[in-house]
Parts: sequence; C-alpha cells; structure tokens
Amino acid sequence: MKKYILSLDQGTSVSKAIIFNKDGEIVSLVQKEYEQYYPKPGWIEQDAKEIWYSQASVAEEVLAKAGLTGADIAGIGITNQRETTIIWDRETGQPIYNAIVWQDKRTSHICDDLKKRGYASLIKSKTGLILDAFFSATKIKWILDNVEGAREKAEKGELAFGTVDSWLIWKLTKGEKHVTDVSNASRTMLYNIHKLEWDQEILDIMNIPASILPKVCSSSEVYGNTKRSMFGDDIPISGICGDQQAALFGQVCFEKGMVKNTYNTGCFILMNTGDQPVESKNDLITTIAWSIGDKVTYALEGSVFIGGAVVQWLRDGLGLIHSTEEIETLALTEKDNGGIYIVPAFTGLGAPYWDQYARGTFWGLNMGTSIGHIARASLESIAHRSADVLKAMEADSGMKFKQLRAGGTMVNNTLLQYQADFYDIPVVQPKIKEIAALGAAYLAGLGVGFWKNTEEIREHWKIAKEFHVLMDKDQVAHHKKYWNKAVGRSLNWID
Ligand code: G3P
Repeated sequence: MKKYILSLDQGTSVSKAIIFNKDGEIVSLVQKEYEQYYPKPGWIEQDAKEIWYSQASVAEEVLAKAGLTGADIAGIGITNQRETTIIWDRETGQPIYNAIVWQDKRTSHICDDLKKRGYASLIKSKTGLILDAFFSATKIKWILDNVEGAREKAEKGELAFGTVDSWLIWKLTKGEKHVTDVSNASRTMLYNIHKLEWDQEILDIMNIPASILPKVCSSSEVYGNTKRSMFGDDIPISGICGDQQAALFGQVCFEKGMVKNTYNTGCFILMNTGDQPVESKNDLITTIAWSIGDKVTYALEGSVFIGGAVVQWLRDGLGLIHSTEEIETLALTEKDNGGIYIVPAFTGLGAPYWDQYARGTFWGLNMGTSIGHIARASLESIAHRSADVLKAMEADSGMKFKQLRAGGTMVNNTLLQYQADFYDIPVVQPKIKEIAALGAAYLAGLGVGFWKNTEEIREHWKIAKEFHVLMDKDQVAHHKKYWNKAVGRSLNWID
C-alpha cells in the first residue's frame, strides 16, 4: 500500500522536495538554494541544468531522509516558479540558453513595440494578461531571435519550449513527455484561456512556431511515469500546477471569493472566481487556477514581483544580515520605521501599477537611520505592496474580504501583523507553511485516487495563527500617505 505523495516544489530561489502523508502532513522535507545570474541590469537567469540537478538531488535525499523508496510513493506532484522560460534541443536534451527568469526585464522594449502596434487589448482579451515582460512569450521570442541558429531549428521542429514544470517532466521521463498543465500554459501569454488552446493569432504576432510548445493537460491526471533509477520503481507523475495556483489549492480556497497571499520571492494574491474568467477593471490579471477532469477554475491575480526577495537582497546583495530569519528580530529592535519607506521595485512594479521601468527606492534616510529601521521598512514594504493589490481586488470583486489566507517561506508574525494593520483584514496562517507543495500533492493525489475528492482534503486545513488589526487608523493613514509618495518616486525611473 503506497502511503505517501511526493511534491517537487521548484521555486525561484529554492528547490524543495516534500513527502506528505494521507492527512496532508509533512513527513520529510529537503531543500536547496541555487544560483541566480545577473548578466546585465534587469536581466535575471538561472542554469536550467542546475535547476534539474538541485531538484533531482532534493528528491533523492528526501526519500532517503524518510527511509522510503519510490515503491512507497503513490504519485508525484510538480509545482513551479511560473513564466520562467527554458528552450532545449529535442535531440540532445541540452538547453540552448539559460532559463530566463520571470523577473527578467530584457524584453520590455518588445512589449512596448507590441503595445504601439495596438496588441495590448487583443492579448488581454484572449490570455487574461497585461502585456508585460513578466510572461513567457517575449522571452521565447528573445531566445529565438538572439541565440544563433535557434530560429531555424525551431522552424524545423527541433526545439522544445517549457516552463519549469515541462522541463522537469522531460527530465524525469528521460525525454518521453513534453507536457504542461493549463495553469502554467495560462502564464505564457500564448494560451487562450477561453478556448483552452494555444492561440495561433498570438503565435503569429510573436513569430513563434507552434511546434516548440508542449501538450497542455489538466492539473490532475497521470502524465507519465518517472524513468529515473534514483526512485527505484517508476512513479506516476500525476499533478502539475504553477506554484501560486497550487498555493490557492493548498489553502483549500475552493469557493468563489476565497483569497490567499503567498510570501516567497514575490507575493502573489489570488482570488478564486469559480468556473468563469472575470475581467479585471483594476489592472489585475485573469488566470487559470487549475483544471480537474473537464472542470476549469479561474482566478484573479495581483502579482508583486519583489516580496521576500527584498530580504534576500539585504542578505546577499548588501550583506546587512546573515540569514533571512534575522529580519524579524532586527525589525523589532525599533519601535517604528524611523520615517523610512522602501519600494523594492528592483524589477519594475507589477499589479496594479504595471510599470516595467520603475526601480527601487529608499526614502527618508537620515543620520538616525538604523539597520533596525531598514529591516522594519523592508517587511512593511511587503505588506504595503500586498495591500495595494488587495485594494484593487476588492474593487474588482465588489466585496469586502472576510479573510486572507497566508503562507510561504517569508511569513513571520511581524509581517502578518503589518498585513492585517495595513489592509484592515483578518490574516490567517494554516498549520502547514509549505502550501504550494501541499496543493501540488493534493492535485497529484486526486490524480491517482489517493484522495477521493476535495471534500476529503478540505478537512485537513487548520488555522495555526490569526492576526487582526491593532494599529490605530491615524497611524495607518500616515503610513499609506508616505508609502504612496515613495511609490510615486519609483515609477518611470528609467526612460
Ligand atoms: O510567477 C512567479 C512565481 O511563480 C514565483 O513564485 O514562490 O518563487 O516567489 P515564488
């Protein structure tokens, strides 16, 4: 009797492998950070082979740590950083260029050109997305136009494109399967979310041959079996979902109007909108959350490009802290932010501003500024950016949210308290922090009958902590005033 599901969570900064039991509890977890490359300002790359090695090694180690083998695993769920673009040679299996990461802004000018040619509304109406360098389409175009010989090979059907899920499945099945799911396809800016197919008109506009695209499947079905000796037995791969949509599933936000935020590298707030795509009037995007059988669930999303990444930057870029956990202790050394506002627009600003040319701002620095103030302002910035999105989302939905379900690696009590204060919303944190991995495990488990239905899963979700507004209204208004001023100074920084 196979008692476990293995979830592979390939995030922007970390590759994780987590084994879950039937009650949705973590049995074993192994994770590894891997290298990011910044070849030019605004460019962010990863080595696709390193992504695979780090993910394969944590998968192998997590089984060993739990004393299990592939024979104990009923199914594998894959969840991943979305939009990140990998193109490889079908024959050799070698990537032809580094993975271009979702935060990379090198294709902003391609987007500008498409906007000038009047394509923004056509693209939005078909894909639900705002024309932005965030999504995969212009990254694919860039690789085909800039890597020598790539376009000719693509025209001959010799290349394959994939988001990270496709790449991992290609590797896990030793090149047998070139697939993705609807949630990841909906992030490419090439997928028609109404007709549920790759959109030939957009492919023509972008000059991308359809032959490089993976087959699009549901988020919960058996796509193929692993062909890797590290697992011993072949294991069915039975769930795929982009990490933010998987987190919505892991938070059991199964009903229309339920909302979650995940605080990882970025912050992504998603609201379930049921079986109908809802068009945003407030600069959010419409996306596919998941599909099970022939039932598709849609979501509204507000994407914040820099969340926990601001803390990583304080650690890796500036060397001001030694570990990301230190940020909370440091923030609590000061009773306020000392008038400091940080807008971490390091890779432009996403929803609801959508300014590819915004850049980061430290505002209010003075001789009394301490590292504690900076730590505090960094955590506050994450809560402010998320509050900006929540405001737009409530305006779109015409309702006041009852609750925000929070998860992700960066969550700590101080951050979640800021969130409750800056948006006057009850914030709840479930017992399991690894919520995207859990969502992918659920989808994989449903795909092989490990769990019968979503009702069975819903029972697992339990609140660990709750945060309610504590700050008085005047203080909140003061914060918002200065936050908005600081955002104003970040916008349109680059001509
Ligand atoms: O769209 C990008 C998103 O999937 C990245 O998620 O968790 O790596 O910040 P994360």
